[in-house]
Amino acid sequence: MPAIVVLGAQWGDEGKGKATDLLATTDTIDFVVRTSGGHNAGHTIVVNGEKFATHLLPSGILTPGATSVIANGVVVSPEALFSELDGLIARGVDVAELKVSANAHIIASYHATIDKVTERFLGKNQIGTTGRGIGPAYADKINRVGVRVADLFDEKILHEKVEAALDVRNHLLTKIYNRRAIEVDVVVEELLSYVDRLRPMVCDTSLLLNRALDDGKTVLFEGAQATMLDVDHGTYPFVTSSSPIAGGVCTGAGIGPTRIDRVIGVIKAYTTRVGAGPFPTELFDNDGIELQRIGGEVGVSTGRTRRCGWYDAVIARYSSRVNGLTEFFLTKLDVLDSWERIPVCVAYEIDGERVEEMPMTQTEFHHAKPIYEYFDGWQEDISGCRTFEELPKNAQGYVKALEEISGAMIWGVGVGPGREQTLVVHDA
Ligand code: IMP
Repeated sequence: MPAIVVLGAQWGDEGKGKATDLLATTDTIDFVVRTSGGHNAGHTIVVNGEKFATHLLPSGILTPGATSVIANGVVVSPEALFSELDGLIARGVDVAELKVSANAHIIASYHATIDKVTERFLGKNQIGTTGRGIGPAYADKINRVGVRVADLFDEKILHEKVEAALDVRNHLLTKIYNRRAIEVDVVVEELLSYVDRLRPMVCDTSLLLNRALDDGKTVLFEGAQATMLDVDHGTYPFVTSSSPIAGGVCTGAGIGPTRIDRVIGVIKAYTTRVGAGPFPTELFDNDGIELQRIGGEVGVSTGRTRRCGWYDAVIARYSSRVNGLTEFFLTKLDVLDSWERIPVCVAYEIDGERVEEMPMTQTEFHHAKPIYEYFDGWQEDISGCRTFEELPKNAQGYVKALEEISGAMIWGVGVGPGREQTLVVHDA
C-alpha cells in the first residue's frame, strides 16, 4: 500500500498517531509527510510508556528508519522547528532523516504578532486561534507576499521579500492597531540565523515523494487539524487557514490524486473542539466535564481545555464524503467505559425539520440541534482488549452501530494511549 492518507475527521485532536501506530505494525513506513498547517498542530505519542508531543514535525520522526517530510503546503516557523528538534535530540531521538520543502512558506515572528493583535481586535467575534501566526502566514502566501524556505538562501531576495511583506503589514500595525512597526532588518537577521542548520534539510520534496512512490515505497501523509477546520469545507470562519482534507494532500505535497490508495479518517468515539465556533453535540453538563476529565481533553499545543460532546454521525458522513474516506479509525473508545447509556447524534433538527446531512449554510448549522439515539454502555475496562472479539458485546455493538451510520467501514479501534492499545475490526 504505497500512499496512505491519515487525517482528522472531526475538529482535530482525534489521536491520528494511533492510526499510524497500527499501520506500522503491518507496513514498513518509509516516509511520513506533513502537508498542511504548521506548529498549531499537536500530536501526543506514547512510545514505551514515554510521552512525546510533536507540533510541526510529523509524528513519524519517532519511527526509526522513516524519513520525515515537511512538504510545500506547510507553513514553517524556523524557531518552532529547531526548538522542537532540539527537544527531541535531548531525549535521544534520531532526527537526521528530516526533509523540508524549498517551497514551504515561512512563519516569521511578525505573523504571530499579527495573529494575536487581530484576534484581540475581533473581540467577541474572535476565532480562538492558536496565536502561532498560521492565518497571517497563509494570508501572505495567497496575497503573494509570502517568504518561502528557498528565499532564505539568497539574502538580497530575502530582504526584498520581507520588505514587501511588511510594507502593508506595518501600515496596518501602526495605523489601525496602534502598535510599533516591525523592522525589516531585524526580521531578515533573525531568519538568516537559521540558514546553516536548515540548508541540509531542504530539497524538492514533491520530486522526492513522487520518486519514492514510483519505487513502491510506503508514504504516509499525516494530517494536521481536521476536516471541520478546513478553510473550504469546515465551519468557516471558525477554521484554520489551510486545507486539512484529503484534497489538500495533493496540493500540499505535489502528488496527483491518482497516487493515493487509502484515506483513513481518524474519529473519536465522542467529539471535541478547541476554539470558537458551532458544535451541535457540545455538552454543558456533568457528562461534558467527565468526557473532558477521563479523555484528558486539554490541547497539546495551547493547553486549552477542549469542548466535549457526543459522537456526531452527521459530521462523520460529511467527512467520509468530502475526503473520499476508504475507512475510519475510531479512537478513545475506552473513554466511554463508565457510561450506562451512550447517546449518538444521528441527525439534526433544524427549524423543526429532521436533517440527515450537513446543512448547506452556516446559519442552519448554527441552529442544528442533535437528534440522539441511545446505545447500551459496557461499563467495564476495555483498555486491555487487543482484538475486536475481546471487547464486551455492547462495545462491539457501539462500534458496529457507528460503522453503519458513519459512511465508511471502521478499520481499527483505539482503546488507550499506548502503541499496542489498538485493535483491528476489519482487515484493510
Ligand atoms: P489557527 O490554526 O491557529 O489559525 O486556529 C484556527 C482554529 O483552528 C482555532 O479554533 C484553533 O483552536 C483550531 N486548531 C488549529 N490547530 C488545531 C489542532 O491541531 N487541533 C484542534 N484545533 C486546532
